[in-house]
Amino acid sequence: MKKIGILNAGGDCAGLNAVIASAVKAGTAYGYEFIGFEKGWEGVLDPMLYIPLDIKSVRGIGHLGGTILKTVNKGRFAGKAGSGSHNAIPEEILNQAKANLAKLGVDALIVIGGDGTLSGAMQLADRGVNIVGVPKTIDNDLGATDITFGFSTAVDVAVEAIDRVHTTATSHDRVLIVETMGRNAGWIALHAGLAGGVHAILIPEVPFKYNNIVNFLKHRKEIGKTSSIIVIAEGARPLDGDVSGIVKAGRPELLLGGISDQLGAKIEELAGDEFEVRNVVLGHTQRGGAPNAEDRILAQRYGVAAIDAIQAGKFGEMVCLKNSVMTTAPIREAVQEIKHVTEDAYAFQTARRIGIYLGD
Ligand code: F6P
Repeated sequence: MKKIGILNAGGDCAGLNAVIASAVKAGTAYGYEFIGFEKGWEGVLDPMLYIPLDIKSVRGIGHLGGTILKTVNKGRFAGKAGSGSHNAIPEEILNQAKANLAKLGVDALIVIGGDGTLSGAMQLADRGVNIVGVPKTIDNDLGATDITFGFSTAVDVAVEAIDRVHTTATSHDRVLIVETMGRNAGWIALHAGLAGGVHAILIPEVPFKYNNIVNFLKHRKEIGKTSSIIVIAEGARPLDGDVSGIVKAGRPELLLGGISDQLGAKIEELAGDEFEVRNVVLGHTQRGGAPNAEDRILAQRYGVAAIDAIQAGKFGEMVCLKNSVMTTAPIREAVQEIKHVTEDAYAFQTARRIGIYLGD
């Protein structure tokens, strides 16, 4: 009999419960016993917070948003010092986590997380704890995998919002700006913008110039397009400026947000009364709510793959999807650097070919 711990940390996203439920179901078939640590890494540290997990306790949760284990994205186990950079977790915290896991008789720990959470996991794995990672984030910015669960649902939420602003933008002959999450990667904005049929997509990977955007809008007006939709990622920035965000206590990196206000104000400033601009920040609506079908399936595949990885003794590895094949890769590889949108990304190429303005 093996005892498996499950932990999720960092921002929540749709599909977490599906990973937990599928891992418990698949692992129970091998005779594994499970406990779930609550509130991320805090649950592993003193005083520990954990609950037993069995088939009964995970029944009926797979389609639900959020996580039954709760989560936090700050605290004593912060594995990230800022975007892409990693924190060395204090030795006494790592030792405490390792000792507590041993005290509970945990043979292996499934860590469901993004860049920060898995950076912490890697440091614990380096100290001999048996860890298998599962890639989670709406931002889709983890290396070593083609896709993280939660991303597809976030894109769906953004597309629905874009569909809705299309009609109001047309009715009023306005410029509507939709701001998506995604941290320092433009995946959500790019995919949602492409699916939503917007006219411009601005992402962190392609710094923009305010003047060029105004010229683009003027050109559209000249050719009879009286309304425009722009999708902008929260981490996008002007070529000669900074990202927009605020400092929050206990958080190592800037909490991004506000670039759509800035862009709207600038368009009105540069173009006088020519354009009436409104903006909408989608924020946490992209993280909340039920997972879509794609994420439900992906999350369950990841949960089952995590059990397979434990069975195969693939510790220090993260389950990942590469060219539609479920496999594993070292956690180190996944967190080495943020996976950014590149020019050759199929969505970027397609957007360019159909004439969406990409800020360059
Ligand atoms: O990493 C997921 C994410 O939703 C980012 O897209 C966003 O910048 C950040 O988390 C928001 O964090 P919080 O939940 O702390 O507001």
